[in-house]
Amino acid sequence: GKIIQQKDFLTLANVPPDSILELLKLASDIKSKWAANEEYVPLKGKTLGMIFEKSSTRTRVSFEVGMLQLGGHGLFLSSNDIQIGRGETVADTAKVLSQFVDGIMIRTFGHEKIEELAESATIPVINGLTDMFHPCQALADLMTIQEVKGKLAGLKMAYIGDGNNVVHSLMIACAKTGIDFSIACPAGYEPNKEIIEYAKKEAKQQGCEIVVTDSPTAAIEGADIVYADVWTSMGQEAENAVRLEAFKEYQINAELVKHAKEDYIFMHCLPAHREEEVTAEIIDGPHSVVFHQAGNRLHAQKAILVDLLQ
Ligand code: CP
Ligand code: NVA
Repeated sequence: GKIIQQKDFLTLANVPPDSILELLKLASDIKSKWAANEEYVPLKGKTLGMIFEKSSTRTRVSFEVGMLQLGGHGLFLSSNDIQIGRGETVADTAKVLSQFVDGIMIRTFGHEKIEELAESATIPVINGLTDMFHPCQALADLMTIQEVKGKLAGLKMAYIGDGNNVVHSLMIACAKTGIDFSIACPAGYEPNKEIIEYAKKEAKQQGCEIVVTDSPTAAIEGADIVYADVWTSMGQEAENAVRLEAFKEYQINAELVKHAKEDYIFMHCLPAHREEEVTAEIIDGPHSVVFHQAGNRLHAQKAILVDLLQ
């Protein structure tokens, strides 16, 4: 892609800061056309294979609708139904799909799988979530922050909870756009060390900082954005009971948000578990932008699709 400057979109880690801002600008232009009901079909006749090895509501629907609105078509390929689920290799699947479609979006487990897919495919591959990253989510989140707060650099985001895929992408997204990022998580649930190191290096260049702490009140102090995700991600269901116990002091509730800025916004990638990572009072309250945030998946991903598939 011209903006992304490579064939694939697997992580924000190899997308330069200026390209992220350019993608956001494109997403916002595309959203304006959509809002004005203006026809915009740069992907006429193009197809996107969408492989899902995990459940999805937002990613599936936003990519499928996005392709249609851009003049193309998205094919939902559940791993239960295609041969990859019966042991056909990732490399063979990539080479075969490259004969038929113009791009592949995949949601899978290990990040090495998407890397192998991208290497074997001659067409662009987009990460629709792996155990390591969720870059489409982070891009849509930046778009939402920009719309609601009118800027990115200079803000502070506090994430309370598990150091997971969503965090890895958010941390990089914040570092590259000048947003201070603090995560509070219990010992043993910190984000990946190398990703923290990478984000800290990027943050330094943008004049912002990345902080990892075990204290929710320290993390949330003065935050403009308060962010939550589930305590048990897809694939970790067997750990659910242990996690409920480990994270019980990490709930976002009325008491905790007293430490945030008065005009803080609450974000969550969704799906949410009310009364676990966040109380209903907060996620359904006046500071919450979670549905606006979900809606921006459509627009942010259109920018990625246009850049990679056109
Ligand atoms: N936030 C997100 O990716 O949601 P889905 O799992 O519904 O796609
Ligand atoms: N961390 C969550 C995000 C879901 C969109 C998961 O991986 O299940």
